[in-house]
Amino acid sequence: AARLDLDGLRVVVTAGGTREPFDPVRFMGNRSSGKQGMAIAAAAAARGANVTLIAANIGTEAVPDGIAVEPVGTTLELEKAVTDAAREADVVIMAAAVADYRPAQVQQGKIKKEHTGDRLTVEFVVNPDILAELSAARREGQLVIGFAAETESDPATLLELGRSKIARKGCDFLVVNNVGWNHGFAADDNDVIVLNTSGDIVMEASGTKLSVADRILDATLSRVP
Ligand code: C5P
Repeated sequence: AARLDLDGLRVVVTAGGTREPFDPVRFMGNRSSGKQGMAIAAAAAARGANVTLIAANIGTEAVPDGIAVEPVGTTLELEKAVTDAAREADVVIMAAAVADYRPAQVQQGKIKKEHTGDRLTVEFVVNPDILAELSAARREGQLVIGFAAETESDPATLLELGRSKIARKGCDFLVVNNVGWNHGFAADDNDVIVLNTSGDIVMEASGTKLSVADRILDATLSRVP
């Protein structure tokens, strides 16, 4: 039987990856499949939470009934959607891979070789750090959880990166995973460590993204006394 230990908890999860267009047919994006974020949304809903999934460029056909889905494309759209949803949330989980930069200009028409010659330069500007903003704005008792996808294979260095990242972002927990070239993104399994604000490891898990999702919820949200 399902444990409804998150009954009524209002949870917002972002999943997928933002895309930044630079003309009507092209964008800069990333390899996030959205699987880990979707698994967290599904696991939280199965445990009784009231879940909103902010879905950045991912198919949502497999999202269980009862989860409110808000599709977004760009980082600025995700920022607006998650900031609005966060006002009514107990927990915000930023699993989406958010583009750090967006093109400074979006061309109205398709960029063509006849006009650019043999080289194209696109200038980017930095996007807002949504996780840092949400962390700075969080209410008393509201929990903000961030993710870090790193391509570092040395465990000690990975941990150091995680510790400096949680300090920089100011969130309550950081889920660190190693994405490399062959695992993490798009895979069905994941390998994570969860850090608290002091940089201590509070949980380590590997397995299917759904089992890892439950472990992340256990480590961060468990209300069991
Ligand atoms: O700095 P980095 O991109 O590694 O941080 C990853 C975490 O920060 C993720 O939780 C991601 O959703 C969030 N993020 C964000 N806004 C950005 C970049 C990342 O909220 N502009």
